Amino acid sequence: MITGKFPALRLRRNRKTDWSRRLIEENNLTPNDFILPIFLIDGKNKKQSIKSMPGVYRYTIDKLNNLVDRAIKKGIPMIALFPYTEKRKKNDLGTEALNENNLVCRALQRIKNKYKNEIGIMCDVALDPYTSHGHDGLLQNKYVLNDETIKILLDQSLLQAQMGCDVLAPSDMMDGRIGEIRKYLDKHNFKMTQILSYAVKYASSFYGPFRDAVGSKNLLKGNKKNYQMDYRNSDEALREVALDIKEGADMVMVKPGLPYLDIIKKVKENFKIPVMAYQVSGEYSLLEYGIKNDLTDRNIILESLISFKRAGANAIVSYYADRLDQIIK
Ligand code: PBG
Repeated sequence: MITGKFPALRLRRNRKTDWSRRLIEENNLTPNDFILPIFLIDGKNKKQSIKSMPGVYRYTIDKLNNLVDRAIKKGIPMIALFPYTEKRKKNDLGTEALNENNLVCRALQRIKNKYKNEIGIMCDVALDPYTSHGHDGLLQNKYVLNDETIKILLDQSLLQAQMGCDVLAPSDMMDGRIGEIRKYLDKHNFKMTQILSYAVKYASSFYGPFRDAVGSKNLLKGNKKNYQMDYRNSDEALREVALDIKEGADMVMVKPGLPYLDIIKKVKENFKIPVMAYQVSGEYSLLEYGIKNDLTDRNIILESLISFKRAGANAIVSYYADRLDQIIK
């Protein structure tokens, strides 16, 4: 690797001027690197702030046009929809997930009708926004049932595809669900609906603010450790990815992001598949909190986001997605 030595070799030469630094830059961000999450809420003409995520809001469906227009204008390739579900619509089985008039379905139809393929729409496949216990699947004696949960996820997947979802993103961590969902979609003639598997999803405390945003925080019973991954492990992450690719995943997600850059890199190096990284709600809040207290400036956001690219992520789900120009400036 080293091709010379000091004093003939001076690495600072290339760093001396701004143009030279720009010339040798290895990584950068463009709008194409982002997926914008959008929180949905029932009602009319509401833009509701989220206490644990300053600067992020929940929107009613009639307010979406503005947001989506702006995302398209900025060149963001995809949005991700997340519903805040009223408590009275939740139950043990999460049946609201299969209601074709639920928030996500209505938003999907509305956006797809108006914008066609101008922007991609991604939806989570999981039951946690809809269950009274806050878990991603069916609960029996504190254990989330695998095969029984998959049966419901199949119908949730198909419904969302029918409503116009482009990219289904199973975030539930059940074993075998990617293969089952692929088969089910194909059988119903949704052969081109993409699957972005949350293949590597850790049981993380960084999801706290998100659970507040979707209204599952105070409902969650226990933790998600019997299905989401242990953050002490990385070999296991590669096994998860290998399986999901075999089962038909088009892309994979690593989540959370910043504390798991090593995993992003390993997945990219081992599988050469599109890898998405999720800069999750806790990372967002941490950055916002740091900035508010004047510990540093907004460049910490850029620095964090670039680290995802350096690690090998193709794109980043980020609550900053549509404000990047302000951040860079
Ligand atoms: C639901 C889901 C979660 C997030 C995305 N989809 C939370 C969880 O698994 O508890 C977290 C996103 C974030 O923290 O920003 N399965």
